[in-house]
Amino acid sequence: MKSPAADPAGAADTSGAPAAPLLSVRDLSVTFHAHAEVRAVNGISYDLGAGEHVGLVGESGSGKSAGALALVRLVPDYAEIEGQVMLDGVDLARLTERELRDVRGRRVGIVYQDPFSSLNPVLTIEKQLTEVVRRHSRVRAGKARAEAARLLESVGVPNAAERISDYPHQYSGGMRQRAVIAMAVSPRPALLIADEPTTALDVTVQAQILELLQDLTSEHGTTMLLITHDLAVVAGITRRVMVMYAGRIVEASSTEDVFTRPAHPYTVALHRSLPRIDERRERLMTIEGQPPDPSRPIAGCPFAPRCSARIDRCTMEDPPLMTVPTARRAAAEGWDRRMIREQDGGALFPGPAAPQLTACWNPPPPAEGSPDE
Ligand SMILES: Nc1ncnc2c1ncn2[C@@H]1O[C@H](COP(=O)(O)OP(=O)(O)OP(=O)(O)O)[C@@H](O)[C@H]1O
Ligand code: SF4
Ligand SMILES: [Mg+2]
Repeated sequence: MKSPAADPAGAADTSGAPAAPLLSVRDLSVTFHAHAEVRAVNGISYDLGAGEHVGLVGESGSGKSAGALALVRLVPDYAEIEGQVMLDGVDLARLTERELRDVRGRRVGIVYQDPFSSLNPVLTIEKQLTEVVRRHSRVRAGKARAEAARLLESVGVPNAAERISDYPHQYSGGMRQRAVIAMAVSPRPALLIADEPTTALDVTVQAQILELLQDLTSEHGTTMLLITHDLAVVAGITRRVMVMYAGRIVEASSTEDVFTRPAHPYTVALHRSLPRIDERRERLMTIEGQPPDPSRPIAGCPFAPRCSARIDRCTMEDPPLMTVPTARRAAAEGWDRRMIREQDGGALFPGPAAPQLTACWNPPPPAEGSPDE
């Protein structure tokens, strides 16, 4: 596993004045009105700074994709989106479908798990890349073809000049993902959503694709939201991590803190399920039990049925996001939400300068010698 990433370009504000975030999400909820009503995302708020690389981590079904794709309304008609999404000061909820189509692609690039979902099987890679270039820069065909070739080379497709005439099925999985990344970064989007971009690939190819994403986004100052169910993927790539469980953000902090002193029992469990090279384990530990059914209302903390640190109030009240010291005092002194809010200075949401946040009444005690002991 790589070590947590150093501060990427633009992520830290050294002037003292907080810079306006590139993306500001407030109280975002997504409900699918299908056979049953499924509350996939339940009131999440966060900010992403310009140039930041942030991980969104959680088990399958925790609402990572629904929450990320709802930012640009890439959800079915039967999905209801609530909340506010501001991109560079523009309220995306107020845009028409046509305006939003322009935002997708030009301002927000998306890389999915399966590159085939972004590629047309009956067109050559050259045709598809050229079309993307022309759509966003309106240059002549010859110039667009030259730019397509340059792009394919820049994402490391071997023999790009020859292989550009191939069809997607003639590429390996890693090459297809490289071609999709070339398309996604071609218009130099401000935000790149990478939704499990390496899950379908071999381990060695995974590392190369992650490195490519990191290099390209750092080079262009692109903000990246890297979605994964595998905590190990965000190490070395992102500076911050938001952990999702049952449609909520349950912990948010620096990648380093998530690895060295996780504050939510779910993050601790995710951590334990990582393969270790220093310990010979017969098999991977999994998190016991199942996440809650999102079509049923939840009383109390959604992790309570699986949580070994559960205390009485956990089954009655869903904890809000709070700073870790506040959580410890809230547990010890039985604080209510009003006292938590007063202590933490109002509504808290993860952002570039936010402290370590947890939605747990009873976080693990600080390790000996740790700064918050
Ligand atoms: N189109 C849809 N119609 C109905 N329910 C959906 C739809 N898409 C997602 N859901 C439900 O919403 C919840 C969150 O799904 P989502 O795909 O966002 O999870 P995820 O965290 O991205 O999981 P994974 O790691 O498997 O991709 C799940 O319960 C899922 O079944
Ligand atoms: S609030 Fe309670 S049940 Fe939820 S994670 Fe914390 S200790 Fe566990
Ligand atoms: Mg998903």
